Amino acid sequence: MAILEILQYPDPRLRIKAQPVTKVDDALRKQVEDMYDTMYDAKGVGLAATQVNIHLRLFTMDVSETRDQRVCIVNPEIIHKEGTQYEGEGCLSVGGGAYDKVERAMKVRLCGTDLDGKPIEIEAEGLMAVCFQHELDHLNGILFIDHLSRLKQQRIRDKIAKDKRREQS
Ligand code: NI
Repeated sequence: MAILEILQYPDPRLRIKAQPVTKVDDALRKQVEDMYDTMYDAKGVGLAATQVNIHLRLFTMDVSETRDQRVCIVNPEIIHKEGTQYEGEGCLSVGGGAYDKVERAMKVRLCGTDLDGKPIEIEAEGLMAVCFQHELDHLNGILFIDHLSRLKQQRIRDKIAKDKRREQS
């Protein structure tokens, strides 16, 4: 079991656009295992490779309450979006207790491959659809706070800076 360091906003590495995975091998599967360990340890529902400084297009996810329904999508792409929802979102890479509603599609259809390189297509709605859109954003260097007003973003930055000063004093 390995817990990886989760990059924290405003770390510029969170802005790197991830590259497509060209080969699914044992080394990559090991990295994914570490990502699951890290995600469960941090009590997150999703973790994009970008967040642990691996700039490849894949993410891990588990939106179940029982924490035993793993989803890992390699080279994910949203091929269909439908409707609108506004759900509260937070992120393991954004401190300061940041949590706010973001406009997302209600339903999405996502394609990609699994860890055996087999093509998969998943349709999701509600929380799972939010999570897919949030993680895919990470792979493009986008954070959920980018969707908020500039005033809200400033408040989050102030809170993070304040927390950091408190930690250091
Ligand atoms: Ni996130």
